[in-house]
Amino acid sequence: MTAPRCVLAYSGGLDTSVAIRWLAEHKGYDVVACAVDVGQAGPGALDEVRRRALECGAVESVVVDARAEFADDFVAPAIAANALYMGKYPLVSALSRPLITRHLVRVAGESGAEAVAHGCTGKGNDQVRFEVTAMAIAPQLRVEAPIREWGLTRDAAIRWAAERELPVPVRPASPYSIDENLWGRTAECGVLEDPWAAPPEEVFERSAALADTPDTPEELVLTFDAGLPVALDGKELDLAGLVAEVDRRAGAHGVGRIDMVEDRLVGIKSREVYECPGAVTILTAHRDLEDLCLEQELAQDKRGLEGRYAQLVYNGLWFTPLKEALDSFMAVPQRYVTGDVRVRLFRGHAAVAGRRSPHGLYDHDLATYDEADRFDHTRAEGFVKLWGLPTKVWARRQGRL
Ligand code: ARG
Repeated sequence: MTAPRCVLAYSGGLDTSVAIRWLAEHKGYDVVACAVDVGQAGPGALDEVRRRALECGAVESVVVDARAEFADDFVAPAIAANALYMGKYPLVSALSRPLITRHLVRVAGESGAEAVAHGCTGKGNDQVRFEVTAMAIAPQLRVEAPIREWGLTRDAAIRWAAERELPVPVRPASPYSIDENLWGRTAECGVLEDPWAAPPEEVFERSAALADTPDTPEELVLTFDAGLPVALDGKELDLAGLVAEVDRRAGAHGVGRIDMVEDRLVGIKSREVYECPGAVTILTAHRDLEDLCLEQELAQDKRGLEGRYAQLVYNGLWFTPLKEALDSFMAVPQRYVTGDVRVRLFRGHAAVAGRRSPHGLYDHDLATYDEADRFDHTRAEGFVKLWGLPTKVWARRQGRL
């Protein structure tokens, strides 16, 4: 009888490396390791990760280049929705988990596996995102959570691996828990667990310290077509390439550092430090272009739904009917969001310095205070009287109470 198979989301780190062996020893699985490239490493960097999984006992090890897919299927809808959890966090990890799970499920189907597995602990959001995504797209699959079940400390994991001569990464452990992809980089743990302690400079990799940013501002022009950025300074790029390039340029100016106390789905408040130069710059520009192009009632309701959208994604509900319905809603206004945005990068800020659009609703002759003014001031008088009428009635009858 052959052993049942389990497809593990593999990062190459200590936890998922020992999880391969643990799933075999404790659960009797043949483990298929699946590492998904969402832009966390340079091209080719996952070759070593692929080999390590086999050395740790995986029967198969696959690496998936999902950078373009991540950009097109996950980052693009997040841009349409201006998705920021708690108004701040661009959902870096929350966007990648449904994609990774989709690949686990695909590989499980191809290799006849009956389970998928992740290396999350029981305290975070990522476990929820993996498991709820699996429930949504492959409810027949079992989900294993070896690290949560095992509850091992880091030192114990290293000892356990040494006893079995597993080639786990031996680099001195970073004090931080890092997750990274095209859309940004996340850091938790270590001194960051004190919400009063300023994050040390060593936490950051994708953004310069303010003291090291250039003394002169730099401008970039983002061109949007139907809501998506399609060109940078007039040069057309695919979304993944464009995000990476904006990230690099904005990061050099210290843009995109986010230090916040975050409400996790599991009820914990946690201190999080993010670096998202590209995401912050693109979302700032996109939102600004919407202000130019969207009719005000539509814009107001869209703003209201954006927070809800971000919350659903944060909470692991990517593949759900409400999220799908909101995507359909968001798609309507995006039809008009075409044009250019000038963004000035300087000392940690990405500030919009200008915008233009063939669909822009800005009408100079209505807005101007000079002679070109076409706005009919006589109509304002009657309008204000009626607009204020309920307030006036209220003031006369009840205002004194
Ligand atoms: N707090 C963020 C989130 O929930 C980041 C999580 C990062 N994940 C990790 N395994 N380090 O989306």
